[in-house]
Amino acid sequence: MRLTYTSDVWWKNAVVYCLDVETFKDGNDDGVGDFRGLTQQIDYLAGLGVTCLWLMPFFPTPNKDDGYDITDFYSVDPRLGTLGDFVEFMRTAHDRGLRVIADLVVNHTSDKHPWFKEARSSKDSPLRDWYVWSDTPEPDNPDQVVFPDKEDSIWEYDEGSGQYYLHSFYRHQPDLNVANPAVRDEIARVLGFWMELGLSGFRVDAVPFLIENVDPKLAEPHEFLADLRAFMTRRMGGSILLGEVNVAYKDLVAYFGDGLGDQITMCFDFIGMQKAWLSLARCDAGALSEALRERPKPPKDSQWAVFLRNHDELTLDKLTEDERQEIFQAFGPSEDMQIFGRGLRRRLPTMLGGDLRRIKMAYSLLFSLPGTPVIFYGEEIGLGENLKAEGRMAVRVPMQWSRDGGFSRVKPARAVPEGAFGPERVNVADQKRDTGSLLRWFQLLIERYRECPELAWGESTVLDTGEPAVFAHRCDADGATVVVAHNLSDTAREAELRLDGLGGYRLTDLLVDGTTEVPDGGVVRITMEPHGCRWLRASHPGVAPEDASVKSR
Ligand code: NOJ
Repeated sequence: MRLTYTSDVWWKNAVVYCLDVETFKDGNDDGVGDFRGLTQQIDYLAGLGVTCLWLMPFFPTPNKDDGYDITDFYSVDPRLGTLGDFVEFMRTAHDRGLRVIADLVVNHTSDKHPWFKEARSSKDSPLRDWYVWSDTPEPDNPDQVVFPDKEDSIWEYDEGSGQYYLHSFYRHQPDLNVANPAVRDEIARVLGFWMELGLSGFRVDAVPFLIENVDPKLAEPHEFLADLRAFMTRRMGGSILLGEVNVAYKDLVAYFGDGLGDQITMCFDFIGMQKAWLSLARCDAGALSEALRERPKPPKDSQWAVFLRNHDELTLDKLTEDERQEIFQAFGPSEDMQIFGRGLRRRLPTMLGGDLRRIKMAYSLLFSLPGTPVIFYGEEIGLGENLKAEGRMAVRVPMQWSRDGGFSRVKPARAVPEGAFGPERVNVADQKRDTGSLLRWFQLLIERYRECPELAWGESTVLDTGEPAVFAHRCDADGATVVVAHNLSDTAREAELRLDGLGGYRLTDLLVDGTTEVPDGGVVRITMEPHGCRWLRASHPGVAPEDASVKSR
């Protein structure tokens, strides 16, 4: 396929790296990460091969929800640096060819935001209608409460002004009223501000909540998303919205902008993620195969964002109770590993018992799935968690750069992982020198992923393998094909792949040395080592695999 497409529509096979400035690297010796520290590590990120950084919220905040409670959308939290530090970071990131996006948290503000302080000061406040008020809210439905450990309602009575305000999340996060045109204008202004400073887009927090309180009688809720996207496109053609949209596939297509692709550019595949974990727990490809077969095709130029872990709980909310329990038993059996009755507060390597072969297989699977991979900082070195930290904070630990931690010259403000996952055992410096390390594996996977744009751009087909433990799929684009197979089990397996149209072709393994010929009938048997991973490029004998995409030349 024509590689020039991948620069215009850059997000479609980007590698997105999510990090929190606060936990990445401390540049001023106060135990808290900051922009100066992050900027010092830019070459590490460029060397890893990621193409886009997603910064978690770095704005001023009382920090009652790790920065997802903002008091000023136009500034940098002083603990993390200044706007000047931000601009220097952006300049350095761009110099190394990295794009940057940031969290856009506009479903709500902090209750300490000047807008809310003003709005609650009186029913007649000019900003009253910037939030959502009611004299008689609907009775509570427990399913609507996102954080059941702290809240039992989504409405909070405001003594001072005598009405209830809506808060989809914590009570200190009042929901903005995005049906109000003045609020919409202000949100666009926020986007414009940060794009002017170089951001290539935003990870949009809590998208379904954001539009749910738009009264459909007054305005079409999805119009707001389309308006935002249009605004961004006017300002910067290649900018994107990456949406947190954890809803069923059938409801999700509307967020891309039904067929038009004029709303959220990329949506996280929460269903695929949960089914992937079910497959990993069962060592059986069935659940993941089914999800990918059911997954709707995004509109042209839109894309799925695929992931295995993020900064929140590993939510299993879209599975049945039995399926959830299966995953709990396999990967987080004790109660303190679980949270909200629906998820796990562990990182992937600890869930997989530190089994390097299995961990490598899980990430190989992730990078090969059709979509744009999003990784959470530290996944590349197998960073663990610290369950002593409260709730979801368990997985938001300081990055481990060297045996003594290397995050800060003083004691980090946050608890670090301990034991087998402590910095003396898991760190960047050691893994850089070890060719068999997870870090080196990530570099290889990212390199191969970028060399195989078919994976992200192509038509993907899940293959029957005749072996339940082997998940396989093929991706075809412009006459080029990549076939991928993963053995989810810890014993060797054989799989049989029917590769229509590839009879007489040669499959070249892109991860290790070796080739396999596809017999004329197109049915090939491949052997898979325990937790084995195979990325195979199909080429016609006589044509070098790197030239397989003949039409692209
Ligand atoms: C989703 C974010 O990922 C989560 O961390 C946050 O607590 C809620 N939205 C509220 O902003």
